[in-house]
Amino acid sequence: MAQCIEFDTERLRLRQWRESDRAPFAALNADVGVMEFFLSPLSRAESDAMVDRVTAVIDERGWGLWAVEERASGNFIGFVGLSIPRPDLPCSPCVEVGWRLAPAFWGKGYALEAARAALCVGFERIGLQEIVSFTAALNLRSEAVMQRLGMRADGVFENPALPEGHPLRPHKLYRLDRTSWSTSSRSCGNTFDTFASR
Ligand SMILES: CC(C)(COP(=O)(O)OP(=O)(O)OC[C@H]1O[C@@H](n2cnc3c(N)ncnc32)[C@H](O)[C@@H]1OP(=O)(O)O)[C@@H](O)C(=O)NCCC(=O)NCCS
Repeated sequence: MAQCIEFDTERLRLRQWRESDRAPFAALNADVGVMEFFLSPLSRAESDAMVDRVTAVIDERGWGLWAVEERASGNFIGFVGLSIPRPDLPCSPCVEVGWRLAPAFWGKGYALEAARAALCVGFERIGLQEIVSFTAALNLRSEAVMQRLGMRADGVFENPALPEGHPLRPHKLYRLDRTSWSTSSRSCGNTFDTFASR
């Protein structure tokens, strides 16, 4: 059991999951627009199982795919954070930054704001040397977040998680190393207090 890292940005809080997150998370996982670039939307049971997994990982490591809360409203809006992907990817072993938000919270810069803070935690608190991100090549909205984060494109690979020939199988890979991150103007920005661990 590690100390759980939780932190704030200007508009958001990234924290361990709560029981009350399960219903809004199931709603976003059932949304065909949110899940357009995944094999299928998730059932309530699949969504709850994902909450169980990510909660356990944060308990175990102290970091992971954090639940994201809008500070002004207290609303749960989705997840952003760091994860260790399956071992058979071209980037493996690697740590990935990822995101999934409810559509009502797209177009506000929230994914970018939360992901910048997650990178800050990854590089400054956890001590990672590199963080990657990848998405279905068709998922331009997600790729745009990687580009806005200042990540570097590193080609396309076939994601073994998807069936051969599936249109979502080609994935774009992006990388960011610690040196490029720390010399950019982005660095920790307004990640507050950061690392107030609980
Ligand atoms: C991928 C995803 C997180 C991107 O969300 P997003 O809101 O588009 O991303 P950002 O946080 O970077 O916001 C950028 C948008 O906010 C706008 N914006 C508004 N205020 C802003 C601010 N203060 N700062 C930055 N951008 C701001 C930008 O202009 C941009 O708008 P645009 O979409 O019209 O170009 C979201 O589409 C999603 O959850 N998709 C479904 C799940 C998914 O595909 N996950 C990735 C799997 S690999």
